[in-house]
Amino acid sequence: MGRFYVTTPIYYVTDAPHVGTAYTTVNADALARWHRLCGDEVLFLTGTDEHGQKVFDAAQAHGVTPQAWADQTAQRFFDAWKLLDITYDDFIRTSEPRHTVAVQAFLSRIYENGYLYKDTYRGPYCVACEDYYTPEQLVDGLCPVHHRPVVEMSEENWFFRLSAFEDRLLAYFAEHPDFTTPPTKRNEALGFIKSGLRDISITRTSITWGVPVPWDEGHVFYVWYDALINYLTAIGFGVDDEMVAHWWPYSHHIMAKEIIRFHAVWWPAMCMAAGIDPPHHVLVHGWLLVGGEKLGKTMGASGAIQLTEISPASLVADYGVDAVRYYLLRETPLGNDGEFSLEAMTARYNTDLANNLGNLVARVATVVGSKCGGVGPAAPAASALRELAGATLAEAAAAWANFAPHLALESSWRLIAGANAHLEANAPWKMEPSAELDAVMGDALEALRVVSILIAPAMPATSAEVRRRIGLDPELPDGAWTTATTDAYRGGVRVEKGEPLFPRIATG
Ligand code: MSP
Repeated sequence: MGRFYVTTPIYYVTDAPHVGTAYTTVNADALARWHRLCGDEVLFLTGTDEHGQKVFDAAQAHGVTPQAWADQTAQRFFDAWKLLDITYDDFIRTSEPRHTVAVQAFLSRIYENGYLYKDTYRGPYCVACEDYYTPEQLVDGLCPVHHRPVVEMSEENWFFRLSAFEDRLLAYFAEHPDFTTPPTKRNEALGFIKSGLRDISITRTSITWGVPVPWDEGHVFYVWYDALINYLTAIGFGVDDEMVAHWWPYSHHIMAKEIIRFHAVWWPAMCMAAGIDPPHHVLVHGWLLVGGEKLGKTMGASGAIQLTEISPASLVADYGVDAVRYYLLRETPLGNDGEFSLEAMTARYNTDLANNLGNLVARVATVVGSKCGGVGPAAPAASALRELAGATLAEAAAAWANFAPHLALESSWRLIAGANAHLEANAPWKMEPSAELDAVMGDALEALRVVSILIAPAMPATSAEVRRRIGLDPELPDGAWTTATTDAYRGGVRVEKGEPLFPRIATG
């Protein structure tokens, strides 16, 4: 039995959940579910990033305390993830006392190890990024990400000696080629290290909404410094060493490429400075774009991105939860940028879900109803379709293990296509009740049983419904993937037709 600790970034509470944040979270959830199906011990962490100037300003604008504002806005994430069937094991909020404990313990270690010093920082700062820039990084004097004016900051800060870690980071990358994946993103992180690392300021005196620096009153930790530590807070850093030792070597951080520098450079250096190993794996994915603009930041000259139109809730209402999950996992290879469009989503829905999967389920149930008295026959001991099912399980497993959900689903759909072809080749709707008919239908039902396992990480509700309709226990126990080929459809149970799983969406 393996172990799998998977994390999403903790999302800023200032933005409502949208398709971009759903993309990361659904990917993490599918991976977590796949590992549970493999019988692995899984810890899946997500949460919200609640400190910093942005939250403070938003709270003031609404006339409430930052905590009250964070409480209200974090709720939107609980709601969205519930709607998307996200099975996180823990949801961390950085305003929680447990986080203060871990942040103070972690940074005190860095302080005691001599990697912090006090100095005055002067330079341009983007409040939306919560990040300092050098004058050279600005584009026409504006923030390069938000195209918004920056503010000139001058503060006495505590600095982290990031520059001391250049060689150690390069050595770490060399010794751990899979520390950051995919390779293109690894090279990006390496390029950043090789271009020279400057020390970074990690505290602020200008704001109060943050974790207090234990050794210097009046300072709070800079929001990014506190945020990264969430991954350790959740496994008990500073209070439960055993739990840290249990999970940390199996950690996988998933995020999009704009925060690679924080995760693949700062964070491992911080860990080294605190005397612990860097996280096991940083998995960087691309951006979902709408008309070429990154979703989720209201930016760009046109301002044409209507986030409310593509909120997870509206998509789930229009397409159903599993269709949304499927599209997010299937359409864009993890690591690439992808264009998000309702047209592409509708096309996938109609082709893959209505025509292929939905049709297969309906056809099998119809024939069992009309020709087998509504009772499913047992799977034949061996068949070409069973061989295909075994090969598909192996192929999909390799893809999931390789963090390639789109490939896992692509191969899963080969079994669905194979089962449909099997029905067309044998035309059981033309056969008389016979042992031969039973073998054809038992074979198809067995394929559906395997399909219900294959699709479970991506489409858990559909998996359960398919299983229920073919007379199996809807719940797949942990480890079900590992027994998928030794088990078989035993037959003798009622098969139910039901409504179409994915009614076609009319296209204009
Ligand atoms: N709070 C920081 C993260 C701290 S982690 C220690 C932050 N929050 S965020 O709310 O801006 O979320 C950024 C993350 O949301 C991205 O890294 C990515 O995981 C996800 N995405 C936001 N928009 C996205 C797209 N348009 N496409 C893909 N992922 C998107 O940064």
